[in-house]
Amino acid sequence: MAAVQTAPKRTEYLNFWNKYSDKPTHESMLLNNNAHELEESDRADVVAALPDYTGKDVADIGSGIGRFTTLFSQKARKVISTDFIESFVNKNKERNASAKNIEFVVSDAAGLELEDASMDLVFTNWLFMYLSDSECVDFTLKALRWLRPGGYFKLRESCSEPSTGRRKGNAVHATDAANPTHYRYKSLYLLLLTNARFQDADGKWFKFEVEWGTSIPTYITLANNWRQVHWLAKKVEIPAPVNGEISTQEALLNAFSTSWPAEQVAFDALVSGDHVSWTHKIMAPQVSASLGATVLAYSPRVVDATAAVDTFALVDESTTTNFWTIELNPLAFRASNTKATEKRDQHQRFAWHANLQSAVTYLSVHNTGFDGFVGTELLSTATIDEVLSLKTVLNSKAQLLLLEPTSETTVNTDALKSAGFTIDLVEDVTTAAHDAINDQISQGTLKAKVAKGSLSASWTVIKATKP
Ligand SMILES: C[S@@+](CC[C@H](N)C(=O)[O-])C[C@H]1O[C@@H](n2cnc3c(N)ncnc32)[C@H](O)[C@@H]1O
Repeated sequence: MAAVQTAPKRTEYLNFWNKYSDKPTHESMLLNNNAHELEESDRADVVAALPDYTGKDVADIGSGIGRFTTLFSQKARKVISTDFIESFVNKNKERNASAKNIEFVVSDAAGLELEDASMDLVFTNWLFMYLSDSECVDFTLKALRWLRPGGYFKLRESCSEPSTGRRKGNAVHATDAANPTHYRYKSLYLLLLTNARFQDADGKWFKFEVEWGTSIPTYITLANNWRQVHWLAKKVEIPAPVNGEISTQEALLNAFSTSWPAEQVAFDALVSGDHVSWTHKIMAPQVSASLGATVLAYSPRVVDATAAVDTFALVDESTTTNFWTIELNPLAFRASNTKATEKRDQHQRFAWHANLQSAVTYLSVHNTGFDGFVGTELLSTATIDEVLSLKTVLNSKAQLLLLEPTSETTVNTDALKSAGFTIDLVEDVTTAAHDAINDQISQGTLKAKVAKGSLSASWTVIKATKP
């Protein structure tokens, strides 16, 4: 029987960080002897992803020697910068001696209290991995409370493994036994953010609307690591929670500690590695050379988890197409990033969004435009407005390749036509799709249990072009 995992005690986390208290350096902040190669670029990635904090009130919690405090102080109205290691706070003070708008506090984030609705940005960068499950839940609910409506919570964590990877190499700490850090699944943080609910003293309810989650580019490019993940969540008012929503702290903790990890394990057992999808068998032959250098992929996985674009198998390994894949399922987001890390496939990037509209909003700000789009279940799930908005992130002459489930024999391409796309091909591929699924099941490369929805749907391939 597996031993019951108990959270390290608060003193163990403190002892871990106290070992670095005489080294207030970038190497200690990144826990990496190669910090000089990563630090500046990593910081730039994080800052580029922040909402505008000009004239705002910012809390930088677990701020270390102040890698981000300095930047916040240059534009924010006020910055509260806290860490539980006094020498780090002292170094932070020294580095920012001329700034007049920073309040430095030596304090443990686990017991921290700030005024209700007093902050516009609560910023943490590698903090939750040093908090127990119940402290993570507690902090998330407090962040909801500390923020003003419309304010943002920015979270970044090492997921599943240290930032230096499983191989020790550049890690500054020697053994796992000396390290009480939690390398949680990225899905857990996402589910925690999306499920947290808070009721204020006036009886109003709030939650986080997670605008996006994605990997830090520097760690992908320089360290082949897709497991450095950050999220941006906005505090929004909501109607009172309805039955079935997680509204108590106890239920949230139970899910975070027990049921969500179990769901991820179950998902990974059925949909990971080579058991991901069957769609490449149908889509790959349709990929023309003109799919382009940068391609947006979209997989809402409504029919079932295997009805998704498999960007790893869609194009020949020799091609240089770069994929940006939008995942809506938190468990699939983790599985796809795991595959990219295992394959070290530099052509793959993934982002989690709540819906296509949210993805388009993010991409309009952060990307220059895609040459192509590949998607499953676009027309069956997206609104006409979403299909229209997709145009804003596609370059002219961009090619669309869609695989659509259809309950009737024809698929409705009206949304594409009204968005101005030219329809180049509509072809029923149901027989080929079912043959491909059954072949893979018999070869053991697809689990029948998860492909049920795909087997009971009819399928149509559509090709279209943006004018
Ligand atoms: C990996 S460093 C990151 C520092 C900084 N956020 C950055 O990105 O440069 C983690 C920091 O979190 C601090 N820390 C860990 N647990 C904490 C806690 N419970 N309360 C306050 N600070 C904490 C550590 O002292 C350390 O400075």
